[in-house]
Amino acid sequence: QQGPAFDSNAMTLTRFVLQEQRKFKNATGDLSQLLNCIQTAIKATASAVRKAGIAKLHGIAGDVNVQGEEVKKLDVLSNELFINMLKSSYTTCLMVSEENENVIEVETERQGKYIVCFDPLDGSSNIDCLVSIGSIFAIYRKVSEGAPTVQDALQPGNQLVSAGYALYGSATAIVLGLGSGVNGFTYDPAIGEFILTDPNMRVPEKGKIYSINEGYAADWEEGVFNYIAAKKDPAKGKPYGARYVGSMVADVHRTIKYGGIFIYPATKSAPNGKLRLLYECNPMAFLIVLAGGLASNGKINILDIVPQKIHERSPIVLGSKSDVEEALSYISK
Ligand code: AHM
Ligand code: MG
Repeated sequence: QQGPAFDSNAMTLTRFVLQEQRKFKNATGDLSQLLNCIQTAIKATASAVRKAGIAKLHGIAGDVNVQGEEVKKLDVLSNELFINMLKSSYTTCLMVSEENENVIEVETERQGKYIVCFDPLDGSSNIDCLVSIGSIFAIYRKVSEGAPTVQDALQPGNQLVSAGYALYGSATAIVLGLGSGVNGFTYDPAIGEFILTDPNMRVPEKGKIYSINEGYAADWEEGVFNYIAAKKDPAKGKPYGARYVGSMVADVHRTIKYGGIFIYPATKSAPNGKLRLLYECNPMAFLIVLAGGLASNGKINILDIVPQKIHERSPIVLGSKSDVEEALSYISK
């Protein structure tokens, strides 16, 4: 007897988003349309990250670039994909991209009510060596009247409508925070769809892993130093394992799946840390909190920070509730 060879009723990302939309009787479908366009930008980025078509670009015989065209850098390509897909979705009026110094305003005829902040390809140091990288996005509703301005993008994370990321890892995944939960979808290249594989994701209450760039230890503040020392001290419990990819998406994804803590701290030379509030810290904090974890800048919840500038940075401590609480007991001392 043969088992079912093909699931003819799979929950795709598109279908999931539509189903969520139907829960709100006044929904216009704009958010679904927006998320569909992001999904397309992610699919195209994933294809480029996986080097589809590389033989054509480099010439099958080994000649470099037979057409004599310059091969677009991946981060430039993914930024263009996000911008073009969002502009043509008729749902967005303003965008903030890590790659653009200023906000990107959509032409009036194509404007919609959402504001999207994104890092189209995060983990720049990992692109060329083929280690996991990702895309991050955060979606707000425009609350002011009139033409969109920078001010519309400076909303605290607790106003987010939705946020998510794509991980280009050993498989491609999208994790989406929408409504009351966080759901994970894995790309099935056989049908070109993201399939719901991780419904209602929850960050474990406590983990066994710490994730921080330990090379900068000499530059840490004392609290961070003492916390990490404690995680390695057998006298204070079973030592934690160390994992640090150096791509925020990969490090956060592991933290959601396995638990533990991820820290990009303030240092003496960079008192605001490195990661950007609008399109790195806020969307990740939104997902972690929605999945039952915690995210702090060391003093207050990440989602309560009122941004002053679109590219501002924030220190961040996020992950399992009990691990973050323990870290904060050291850091906020
Ligand atoms: P990027 O936007 O230039 O890619 O930098 C962000 C990345 C994050 O993905 C990662 O968490 C962090 O930088 C790693 O930084 P470091 O190499 O200083 O540890
Ligand atoms: Mg980045």
